[in-house]
Amino acid sequence: MAEQAPAPGSRDGISRRGILGLFGAGAAGAVVGAAGGAGTAVAVTGAFGGPEASAAYDFHGTHQAGITTPAQDRLHFAAFDVSDSLDRAGLVGLLADWTDAAARLTQGLEVEEGGAVGGSDHAPPADTGEALGLPAAGLTITFGFGPTLFEDAAGVDRFGIAARRPPALQALPRFQGDALKAEWTGGDLCIQACADDPQVAVHAIRNLSRIAFGRASLRWSQLGFGRTSSTSTSQSTPRNLFGFKDGTANVKAEDGEALAEHVWVDAADEPAWLAGGSYLVARKIRMVIENWDRVQLGEQEQLVGRSKGEGAPLSGGTEFAEPDFEATGATGAPLMAATSHVRLAHAASNGGVRMLRRGYNFVDGNDQLGRLDAGLFFLSFQRSPEQFVTVQRSLASDGLNEYLKHVGSAIFAVPGGIRPGEHVGQPLFA
Ligand code: HEM
Repeated sequence: MAEQAPAPGSRDGISRRGILGLFGAGAAGAVVGAAGGAGTAVAVTGAFGGPEASAAYDFHGTHQAGITTPAQDRLHFAAFDVSDSLDRAGLVGLLADWTDAAARLTQGLEVEEGGAVGGSDHAPPADTGEALGLPAAGLTITFGFGPTLFEDAAGVDRFGIAARRPPALQALPRFQGDALKAEWTGGDLCIQACADDPQVAVHAIRNLSRIAFGRASLRWSQLGFGRTSSTSTSQSTPRNLFGFKDGTANVKAEDGEALAEHVWVDAADEPAWLAGGSYLVARKIRMVIENWDRVQLGEQEQLVGRSKGEGAPLSGGTEFAEPDFEATGATGAPLMAATSHVRLAHAASNGGVRMLRRGYNFVDGNDQLGRLDAGLFFLSFQRSPEQFVTVQRSLASDGLNEYLKHVGSAIFAVPGGIRPGEHVGQPLFA
């Protein structure tokens, strides 16, 4: 194999074009993971002299990528509102254009061939250019459809799809303690872009927003860092901004049975067009970390129900031990306190319900009181929104609530995987 000279502007000596020139779009290399359909990754490692590993995940597959894909380190999430002037054909056109661009971007390509600098000097470039020279960085792009796409706030069926709306796709109910702000809530469409390089994730959302110009506009968006979940047993458990391991008891890519039961919409579920898809819940949760930082270690652990160091349940064992909710201490009190987060969120307290969590930390500057505007951008994928509703209601007595404020909320139906030549959500419009 020929030596590849570092591309100008390349951070690691790996040029996006160089990789694809040698391998073709995601065609070769070492396959490092193939969980869940759309999860085949091509490892691009030291072959080019760079120490970093980068992955390119298949865009096409049984399920959309970005759900069971090993959680990347960075997020740019965006919710869009469709323009009032757009008709059904226009919406389908937008989804087709987004699909084409996403299929290229996830392979480390520009929006279109020569898009950044290869076009006319007299026209704006088709690609904004800030990802030139960067590898795919594990980019996944996941699309979702909000309740208002099917029927807007006035009950208007703008795109002739109201009759095909999943019955379960309703705005989430109001939960105790909700302090939702309109500017971080709702949306007709969403795009979740995850990557191991923030510039790559931002480039994806920026270019997809640009493609939507005049057809859909950004309603709100969120940057995230430091994944707060692991979605594969191959990953170590990261920590959230409370300093606790987060993702230990998550549904993982390797557990096909749990995915089928708790995450993927089944072909026998309603509606058939959503088979292989899922429901995505997004919650922007502000964490009052200045108050949390004044709480004693023992109390922090009681509130979570796990040790801060290892992440083990307070009932004993190591990190992945099952919590024992019957176990009591010397005083006779349960070792897993009745108001601990883990106890209330666990399947045992919720009729067996589980979900796949895939959230990110955020810090959006600070407020006027000099406190960090920080928290958890919670994302979960589940077979039915009812799973989230059940757990969130159970968390009404969560001791952590004193340090949390839910300020944003949205729900989306995430269509199943996209086949080559199709666009996202094609079965909905068939
Ligand atoms: C900022 C808010 C939150 C924080 C800091 C937080 C933190 C944690 C931590 C530290 C764990 C234990 C480790 C693990 O198993 O992942 C956990 C578990 C869990 N959390 Fe949260 N969480 C938050 C919000 C939520 C929300 C909104 C939900 C869903 C409505 C949720 C659902 C769960 C579930 C299902 C588990 C696994 C419980 C088990 O089976 O043991 N969490 N969370």
